[in-house]
Amino acid sequence: MKTTTEKFGATPHQPSLWTRADALKVRADDPTTTQPLVSADFPVLNNDVFIWDTMPLRDLDGNVTSVDGWSVIFTLTADRHPNDPQYLDEDGNYDILRDWNDRHGRAKMYYWFSRTGKNWEFGGRVMAEGVSPTAREWAGTPILLNDRGEVDLYYTAVTPGATIVKVRGRVVTTEHGVSMVGFEKVKPLFEADGNMYQTEAQNAFWGFRDPWPFRDPNDGKLYMLFEGNVAGERGAHKVGEAEIGDVPPGYEDVGNSRFQTACVGIAVARDADGDDWEMLPPLLTAVGVNDQTERPHFVFQDGKYYLFTISHTFTYADGVTGPDGVYGFVADSLFGPYVPLNGSGLVLGNPSSQPFQTYSHYVMPNGLVTSFIDSVPTDETGTQIRVGGTEAPTVGMKIKGQQTFVVAEYDYGYIPPMLDVTLK
Ligand code: FRU
Repeated sequence: MKTTTEKFGATPHQPSLWTRADALKVRADDPTTTQPLVSADFPVLNNDVFIWDTMPLRDLDGNVTSVDGWSVIFTLTADRHPNDPQYLDEDGNYDILRDWNDRHGRAKMYYWFSRTGKNWEFGGRVMAEGVSPTAREWAGTPILLNDRGEVDLYYTAVTPGATIVKVRGRVVTTEHGVSMVGFEKVKPLFEADGNMYQTEAQNAFWGFRDPWPFRDPNDGKLYMLFEGNVAGERGAHKVGEAEIGDVPPGYEDVGNSRFQTACVGIAVARDADGDDWEMLPPLLTAVGVNDQTERPHFVFQDGKYYLFTISHTFTYADGVTGPDGVYGFVADSLFGPYVPLNGSGLVLGNPSSQPFQTYSHYVMPNGLVTSFIDSVPTDETGTQIRVGGTEAPTVGMKIKGQQTFVVAEYDYGYIPPMLDVTLK
């Protein structure tokens, strides 16, 4: 198997590498890149459901958009089962942690609306049962297409397989609320090819998901980011000099890090509607560093491309580590080269005292970062926890050149619009 550089050497662009040397610079608990502690007495958006990945309605340029004064978010959502015998422990108590950990298998896309950009009101499921072709409706992006309220929802249809799909519908508003109509015909767009992006046949733990379509501010073309792993049989990847980077003496041993092969994928649309896509080589690879670069997304600021992606402690390779949170990279042009923000890539991580307090951070062009609450310790030792499944406090961040700084904290689930579209 080739190194990342050899593999993509002949392609139109070289993926940028997040190296082991970069990751060695990650410092947990740096206050400028650490999310403030989330208190265990957080409010719960809705006690009937767990919510996690949050996807604000936006336009193709990345602006969070309200319609007729209504803010709209989509969330991955699953029912809570407090009375289901399957989720009762030996003493007959609800084992919420087990219910929460099982949520991915029954994830469905729901929507919520609000007049104030917070205190979200329950909208319901986006697609009726039976519309989506697979068991799981995983993360993606709702795009407001025009002032007729048309919405393209790009998402991941998972189990069996993992396919990037889209479904078109319409957002309708009244004085009293918002509804989603249509969303009846799901169109498969593409799957991992095994040549650039790893397939399930190559690795049962492969990742291929989380589409984020956008219009490039420079060439005006329609592209899409997504999460992938670099193609190749599991265990066959090489962690060479380029993947290691410039490490100090004693840090050359890569251990079993060949099993960690995350990448940020990119595809370009062949048509204006985004029905026909061509996958391109990844923008960024993390071979030998980390196995998951999830929910990649951009902020376009100061003529630069700020690429953000979420990742976990448990997906880091041997010899490198970092907190659960959002990582970032910056380039002067779409295809790079990308350099890690803050030297290491870490942009906003959980504090080490509450390593699972939040996840699935989404950086908006106004510098606000939304995420969900996973679990927060309720005692000193961290053995007792409270499960979230609800919106975390929004964090305010400044992005300056190659650095980022935490500067503010806002209310739970605060996702204010950047634009309002009046529907015709
Ligand atoms: C991030 C994530 C996404 C995926 C979803 C599955 O929290 O892992 O990558 O689409 O959750 O529930």
